[in-house]
Amino acid sequence: MAQIIDGKQIAADLVAEVANGAQAIFSEYGIRPGLAVVLVGDDPASQVYVRNKVARATEAGLNSIEHRLPADTDQVTLNALVDELNNDPAVHGILVQLPLPEQLNEEEIISRINPRKDVDGFHPINVGELAIGNATLVPCTPQGCLLMLEKTLGDLSGKHAVVIGRSNIVGKPMALLLLHANCTVSIVHSRTRNPQELCKQADIVVAAVGRTEMVDASWVKEGATVIDVGINVTERDGKRKLLGDVNFADVEPVANAITPVPGGVGPMTIACLMNNTLIAARNQLS
Ligand code: GUN
Repeated sequence: MAQIIDGKQIAADLVAEVANGAQAIFSEYGIRPGLAVVLVGDDPASQVYVRNKVARATEAGLNSIEHRLPADTDQVTLNALVDELNNDPAVHGILVQLPLPEQLNEEEIISRINPRKDVDGFHPINVGELAIGNATLVPCTPQGCLLMLEKTLGDLSGKHAVVIGRSNIVGKPMALLLLHANCTVSIVHSRTRNPQELCKQADIVVAAVGRTEMVDASWVKEGATVIDVGINVTERDGKRKLLGDVNFADVEPVANAITPVPGGVGPMTIACLMNNTLIAARNQLS
C-alpha cells in the first residue's frame, strides 16, 4: 500500500507560515502583501482557479485584488492594466490567469509584468534565473511538487526523476528544480521513443501531460514515488469527476507514495502562490 501524499495538509502548513510572514510585514510596515489576480473572459476552469486563489489569499492574510475583464478585451487594454498594477505600490504580486483568449498575446503580457511582481515565475528573466539556479520567484506548480517530494523522500540526490510533459508552466521548470535538487532527470514528451520503458526506470515520476489516466502500473517501477499534476474534467457514470494523468487505482499498489487528485498538487500550487506573494512583498519592501 502506498503512502497517500496529503497535499492539502502540506499546503495548509505552508499557508499558515505565509500568514505568519504576512503578519510580520503588517506589524513592521502597516501594510498587507497585495496580490492582483487578472481573469480575462469566462473560461469555467479558470473561474474556479481564480476563486480558489482569492479565497486562500484572504486566509493567508494577504490583500487580494481581483480584476475581471470581458472575453473580447484587446491587447492595449490588458497592457494598460498590467502597467497600472506594475506601478501600484500596494500590489506586490501580479497573476494573469492563463490561457488568455486567442486575440491576446500571452508572451507579450508575461514579459510586460514587472519581474519582481511576477509571482507565477513565467517572465523570461525569472525563467533565466531558475535555469542558472538563482531563482527568487519559482513557478508555483513545480515548486509545490518539489516540496511534496522533499517532505516524502527527504534528500532527492541521485534519484532518477522522469517528468512527463514539457510545458513552460510545469514540465520544463519541474525538470530544472529536480536537477538543482541533484536528481538525474529525463523529460518524456510526445516524440519520446519508448516513454513507458523510460518511465519504468524512474524513482520519481511527475506526470504533467493533461491526458486522463495515461500513466498506469505498466509505467511505474515498484516503490517509485508518483506526483500527478493532471486535473482532467471527465464525465463518468453520469457524474463530473476530476481525474489525474495517473490511473490512481492501478498505480497505487505498486508505488511507494502517490498524490491524489484532487487534494494533491492543486492545493500546493495555490499555497506556493501565496508564498511567492510574500517573497515578492519582502523583496519590494526591503
Ligand atoms: N493556468 C493554469 N495554471 C496556471 C498558473 O500556474 N498560472 C497562471 N497564471 N495561469 C495558469
